[in-house]
Amino acid sequence: MALCTASQFQSLTLFGASILSINTTSHSNLSFKVPTGDNHYAKNVTGLDVCEVIISYTHPGYNDEVNTIVWLPTAEDWSGRFLGAGGGGWVTGASNSTLAWAASEGFAVVTTDGGHAANSPVQDWALLSPGNVNWIPLQNFASTTLDEAATLGKAVVKAYYGTKPSYSYWNGCSTGGRQGHMMAQRYPEQYDGILAAASAMNWGQMLMQEGWPQAVMNDLKLYPTNCELEAVRLAAIEACDGLDGVEDGIITLPGQCDFDPSTKVGQSYYCSLNGVNTTITEAAATVAKWTWKGATSPRNESLWYGLDVGASFLADAATTCSANGTCIGSPLGFYDIWIRYFLMMDPSFDVSTVNVSVFSKLFHQSVNRYDSIIGTSDIDLTYFKEAGGKIITWHGLADSLIAPNNTVSYAQRVYERDPEAGDYYRFFEAPGVDHCSGGPGWFPGKGLQSLIDWVENGIAPTSLEAQTQNGAVQRSANLCLWPKSLHFVSGDVNEASSFKCR
Ligand SMILES: *[C@@H]1O[C@H](CO)[C@@H](O)[C@H](O)[C@H]1NC(C)=O
Ligand SMILES: *[C@@H]1O[C@H](CO)[C@@H](O)[C@H](O)[C@H]1NC(C)=O
Ligand SMILES: *[C@@H]1O[C@H](CO)[C@@H](O)[C@H](O)[C@H]1NC(C)=O
Ligand SMILES: *[C@@H]1O[C@H](CO)[C@@H](O)[C@H](O)[C@H]1NC(C)=O
Ligand SMILES: *[C@@H]1O[C@H](CO)[C@@H](O)[C@H](O)[C@H]1NC(C)=O
Ligand SMILES: *[C@@H]1O[C@H](CO)[C@@H](O)[C@H](O)[C@H]1NC(C)=O
Ligand SMILES: *[C@@H]1O[C@H](CO)[C@@H](O)[C@H](O)[C@H]1NC(C)=O
Ligand SMILES: *[C@@H]1O[C@H](CO)[C@@H](O)[C@H](O)[C@H]1NC(C)=O
Ligand SMILES: *[C@@H]1O[C@H](CO)[C@@H](O)[C@H](O)[C@H]1NC(C)=O
Repeated sequence: MALCTASQFQSLTLFGASILSINTTSHSNLSFKVPTGDNHYAKNVTGLDVCEVIISYTHPGYNDEVNTIVWLPTAEDWSGRFLGAGGGGWVTGASNSTLAWAASEGFAVVTTDGGHAANSPVQDWALLSPGNVNWIPLQNFASTTLDEAATLGKAVVKAYYGTKPSYSYWNGCSTGGRQGHMMAQRYPEQYDGILAAASAMNWGQMLMQEGWPQAVMNDLKLYPTNCELEAVRLAAIEACDGLDGVEDGIITLPGQCDFDPSTKVGQSYYCSLNGVNTTITEAAATVAKWTWKGATSPRNESLWYGLDVGASFLADAATTCSANGTCIGSPLGFYDIWIRYFLMMDPSFDVSTVNVSVFSKLFHQSVNRYDSIIGTSDIDLTYFKEAGGKIITWHGLADSLIAPNNTVSYAQRVYERDPEAGDYYRFFEAPGVDHCSGGPGWFPGKGLQSLIDWVENGIAPTSLEAQTQNGAVQRSANLCLWPKSLHFVSGDVNEASSFKCR
């Protein structure tokens, strides 16, 4: 084993890039309180010793600077496995806490800043000038630096331990889920196993979906309070919670829920957000219905999927109200920035003018202009399959940001194209789980182990072990392999054995 010194890595090269610097730091006795997320349960990491290698490079002519970060456990602690750690939102890479988690599990782990320093928000790099998108940083974020991180990370492993990794894995959620799919689609030989959850793929459609309820409200010129929308959500759960055989506050069959919020207009509900009772208005019922129906053109053509019934409205359909009772739309930052910077290319554009008809126009721009760069929508995984790769994906059905049907529709198309896709692509629904984590539902925190068992031992997962993270009692369930869903049969509602998949 080599020393944790820059000179050990001097022979590294990367096609298409010029290496600017290689820095190393030997960390000892690191402690991290790692929260639940990134497809794993919470863990207190202590006494961690790692060698950190930071490789800074540029793509000659592109005038960029990308940092690839590798954390290497000691040779005794290294399992022989390599892990690529994904990012979130507009952030390309993973946090120290995720790297610490992975290293403490024996992985040599790589991540990249995608050429975007952590303190540089997307607004700082999206445009070269008003009207002119800065394509290279977008391409770096979308795909290229992810491939380069895998190549560099493996070379660092070889230089440090004297041997290549035995197996390579990807782990990510949201943007990290999209990135995992990008690896399978475009760089199918880099990873043997990919765990890619709540994926932000179909990027052009997905970002517009996150703001569709705002366009509906701008069209109606009515902005229901968060309390009313929350009341509609609770009423819907009350109506559809029992479809799976048990009333536990978790909807497992949102597609079968035909709850009509109009029937609740005028009813009073206690609002836990402000401790005051609230009355559901017609406007709230209408916004809820359109949020569930999904983006639709003024000619009544369906553009994209909506959130599932039971998900919180307070991300995509959020409003803010003044003391005098006037409410305005409060669009999610991802949607707001996407429209102003990447579609209008004008930071001063007023997103509150995006009504249903403007939305429809922008939706087409969003998909047509960006799909080849960042859409991540290719369903042909032939080359990944031929390389022997396996993908596990899961999506929380109570995801309040990204519609679960974003994943359902992708899986459906993968299976339509290849009926044997279960040999390399498996999807699990996580009822009651919000975006990547949160919510009352069952969070699958051992997905990476299931992936390892599949890749290394040929044990294809038929379910994913999951535990609730919130609430007084911890409940267990085994998430069903799509298209099956969880149904309560009999027994203790907190035990996985009381449910069946069908
Ligand atoms: C590497 O170290 C040099 C010299 O200490 C420093 O100037 C540079 O900023 C470091 N690079 C990175 C990527 O940390
Ligand atoms: C490691 O860190 C812990 C707390 O962070 C401390 O209590 C302990 O003394 C440290 N051990 C060594 C060998 O430095
Ligand atoms: C981490 O440590 C804290 C105490 O510092 C404890 O409350 C918590 O339960 C621990 N978390 C885990 C996952 O072990
Ligand atoms: C963690 O990340 C920050 C930058 O976000 C960095 O300054 C810090 O040194 C990193 N390393 C460790 C071991 O915490
Ligand atoms: C407040 O709402 C609850 C139902 O959530 C209801 O039982 C109660 O009567 C309401 N109170 C008022 C003052 O309307
Ligand atoms: C819009 O299309 C849906 C089917 O997608 C249909 O049920 C509905 O009646 C249509 N509405 C109008 C106003 O044409
Ligand atoms: C999601 O897709 C399924 C069919 O695959 C459909 O039954 C359901 O209505 C869709 N849900 C939403 C919210 O679009
Ligand atoms: C209510 O307050 C907001 C912001 O404080 C203001 O913009 C708006 O004009 C006010 N509306 C009325 C009806 O007074
Ligand atoms: C939607 O907004 C556009 C641009 O501001 C405007 O021309 C159009 O009249 C609006 N449509 C509706 C139905 O309000």
